[in-house]
Amino acid sequence: MSLPENFLWGGATAANQCEGAYNVDGRGLANVDICPAGKDRFKVMLGHGETLEPDTEHVYPAMEGIDFYHHYKEDIALLGEMGFKTFRLSIAWSRIFPNGDDAEPNEAGLQFYENVFKECHKYGIEPLVTITHFDCPIHLTKEYGGWKNRKLIEFYKKLVTVLFTRYKGLVKYWLTFNEINMILHLPFMGAGLVFKDGENEIQAKYLAAHHELVASAEATRIAHEIDPENKVGCMLAAGQTYPYSCAPEDVWKAMGKDRENYFFIDVQARGEYPAYAKKFFEREGIQLDITEEDEKLLKENTVDFVSFSYYSSRCASADASVDTTDGNVFATVKNPYLKASEWGWQIDPLGLRITMNALYDRYQKPLFIVENGLGAVDQPDENGYVEDDYRIEYLKAHILAMMDAVEIDGVEIMGYTSWGCIDLVSASTGEMKKRYGFIYVDKDDNGKGTLRRTKKKSFDWYKTVIETNGQCL
Ligand code: BG6
Repeated sequence: MSLPENFLWGGATAANQCEGAYNVDGRGLANVDICPAGKDRFKVMLGHGETLEPDTEHVYPAMEGIDFYHHYKEDIALLGEMGFKTFRLSIAWSRIFPNGDDAEPNEAGLQFYENVFKECHKYGIEPLVTITHFDCPIHLTKEYGGWKNRKLIEFYKKLVTVLFTRYKGLVKYWLTFNEINMILHLPFMGAGLVFKDGENEIQAKYLAAHHELVASAEATRIAHEIDPENKVGCMLAAGQTYPYSCAPEDVWKAMGKDRENYFFIDVQARGEYPAYAKKFFEREGIQLDITEEDEKLLKENTVDFVSFSYYSSRCASADASVDTTDGNVFATVKNPYLKASEWGWQIDPLGLRITMNALYDRYQKPLFIVENGLGAVDQPDENGYVEDDYRIEYLKAHILAMMDAVEIDGVEIMGYTSWGCIDLVSASTGEMKKRYGFIYVDKDDNGKGTLRRTKKKSFDWYKTVIETNGQCL
């Protein structure tokens, strides 16, 4: 048997992509609510939106999501039927503190997650909770400028203290910030940042990053203090960068690209700013408000495990004229050896094994794959059934690569949660038609549909994978 007996098989979601009910039971407006579907989405996610209010011209898919808020019992029952050992979901910050800086938390929001966690436990499902998944109350952007303001560390500390206290005994696996390296790519999503004309964006992004890193270490400290059973992980949008050729310039370029991402985890898992980052800040004139207390806190509160998402490897070249493609919003050089999804994300199962080995060599902490999957267009029959062999093929190849990393290479791994186990809104495009789930949700890109849930072919396949601990793929 290659995987440990207590291996945490499951699936992953995020509040902003499935919960909906954006204005129900006292929830406040959040950054994610005002990211529209369609051509203006990227501009907003990049921090170049014109307004911080929703308007009548756009459709805002996060506002309804798949209405998990009202369907959670039915949805968790289906996950239970698949035999899930864990279910990754995130907290909508503005459901707990509607403005982010409120004096008291919103009881209705706290009660909602308590109900969800209790529902999970009914089926023997361990919740894996992302505290912040591209989520920031809009008031914190309006009033404080988002994470570039150090005050957000205090608001986050208050949030996590409430969460760890209230859910003690119900949740023990926590992730502090989803894909923390996304700050550099989608700063409005990653850190609630909005830029003024001519603002030094790189300065703002790294300042926000420092505040999130300190907040993450604070969360780790508080989690352990409140309940020593708590296990806290960081979360990286991972994918090893290959050099386009063996030219040393390409190798160097690839190494630099990887460091852009590792930078965050180097701090969270090793407890200090790496030398290459300090030099980079110096060169770029980036000023961070790193205090001695911050340094001590970071050093003493490293994470218990390293979690990551993996959709594809990446590729880099020193030659700016080579073709690029999309890959989880990280524009990357097109690797001629790989096929790609309909959205241009290249498919590389061996890259997962390579990525796992690189992360384990670097950090020597247990890993947790908390996102992996294929976004594809599904064609349901009249009963809502989808023959998604393409999805099974993708997941099977990646799970095999993960098992090789464990069995042959000795990488330590806690679990695997495939992304979007139930269809949900795409983060990058806002579409519904980019589906990842084992469960089909009847809703289209225009927001039309009954929201009926039906099982796809992959539902039974994944049930067997879990039942046999990955032996029957
Ligand atoms: C990750 C995010 O970047 O990729 C998820 O953590 C996201 O929120 C996932 O949904 C897949 O991306 P997309 O754009 O296909 O939804």
